[in-house]
Amino acid sequence: MRQVIIAGNWKMNASKEVTNILVMDILSGMVNVKSKVIVCVPFPYMAQVEALVGCSQLNLGAQDLNINKSGAFTGEVSVDMIKDFGARYVIVGHSERRSLYFENNEIVAQKVQVALNNNLTPLLCIGELLEERNSGKTQEVVSEQIQTVIDLVGIDAFKDIIVAYEPVWAIGTGITATPKQAQDIHSFIRSILAKHDENVSKITPILYGGSMNPRNASELINCKDIDGGLIGGASLKAQDFLQICKAS
Ligand code: 13P
Repeated sequence: MRQVIIAGNWKMNASKEVTNILVMDILSGMVNVKSKVIVCVPFPYMAQVEALVGCSQLNLGAQDLNINKSGAFTGEVSVDMIKDFGARYVIVGHSERRSLYFENNEIVAQKVQVALNNNLTPLLCIGELLEERNSGKTQEVVSEQIQTVIDLVGIDAFKDIIVAYEPVWAIGTGITATPKQAQDIHSFIRSILAKHDENVSKITPILYGGSMNPRNASELINCKDIDGGLIGGASLKAQDFLQICKAS
């Protein structure tokens, strides 16, 4: 059975003070949480969160990585730097990076490969735009996004990848995919993996992201192929985040 995973994506939010309060509040509410819980925080706060989480069950992640080892890449952050702060997870291919920073499927696949080669677990984000859904292209888009990664890293690598299906029209809009809409695509994603390797498809976690909140989390997470959530806005409120962590 796949473990439920709840990951918070703070995006470009928080401050030193907010980080302190948020992480302390999450930690103090984590008794009885059975899910794996990850917080993907902005780079400047990683050292602070590393110190706060200590050996607790709260895991630290980053929100992006650069594919190069080191060198003249002003403003960028390498996997070694991410690992230096005890992080074991990294978000790759978030729709905001795809749309605002022009990351295409090939770049995303390379980032997944670099993360895996360096023992970081990638949270690989995929998902369609509203116009793609409206023109019946959801499956085509999602399957291209995932296939590019399979082509580069191989299906076996999906034993160490967390997939996050985030329909772009649901991100930050308050419009959540219905459990049926989400489950349909999750099951489709699993079927793509199964075409390559049935066993791998059964163990790869597939999270849902896009306006997940304490009110809709339980119904979504209880769907057969939904193994947890990647949470934006609601991960910035400790009580909401904790409620989602306990929703499964
Ligand atoms: P929201 O939960 O704010 O819709 O954001 C989802 C997301 O983008 C997580 O990566």
